[in-house]
Amino acid sequence: MSTQTETLFPLEPAFEVITDGACLLRGAAISHEHDLLAEIDSIAARSPFRHMVTPGGFTMSVALTNCGSAGWVTDRSGYRYDCIDPETGKPWPPLPVCFRSLAGSAASRAGYHDFHPDACLINRYEPGARLSLHQDKDEHDFDNPIVSVSLGLPAIFQFGGLKREDPVRKYALNHGDIVVWGGPSRLFHHGVPALKKGVHGLVGSMRINLTFRKAL
Ligand code: SIN
Ligand code: FE2
Repeated sequence: MSTQTETLFPLEPAFEVITDGACLLRGAAISHEHDLLAEIDSIAARSPFRHMVTPGGFTMSVALTNCGSAGWVTDRSGYRYDCIDPETGKPWPPLPVCFRSLAGSAASRAGYHDFHPDACLINRYEPGARLSLHQDKDEHDFDNPIVSVSLGLPAIFQFGGLKREDPVRKYALNHGDIVVWGGPSRLFHHGVPALKKGVHGLVGSMRINLTFRKAL
């Protein structure tokens, strides 16, 4: 490929540094969109999306399901990873091969080699759904990064610091964007304000986010 063609159609999508240890890979999942969406449908057929209750008794506006050997769950007794889907009483569906390879290659591009996630939380946002500022800290080790894949409607991603009151930067996340955070930013607060109404050509009137973790 000539240099000029490479400039017009870069082989590697854009890499934006968010902060030390965190970056945004724009459009990095687009070439896998059909496989990812087909896998999400088959996972949801086995372990349906549901609105879980927080320990404080609030029903989450985001609906979720999981795949992998562990799934993130919440109920009145707390947040945790569980190998069994509490709704079906069965193990979560396995991590599809295309999920593993996408998460591994995104982590590598961000400088985290040998990322082998065992958990993928699948969040579904409908208009109005939001996720308040939080840290991902229910995992056993914080040496591995988080890889987060956005599909469907655009959202604002808020990325703060170690303390809840630290200043927050905002990023527009579009279909196919991947955010990776780890190392010094592994425990940084992040959140998603209420999703705006809209229709995405492939995904419809929702946003789906996959977050890959090494949980166990
Ligand atoms: C999460 O923090 O679990 C999800 C973040 C997102 O939806 O982008
Ligand atoms: Fe999170």
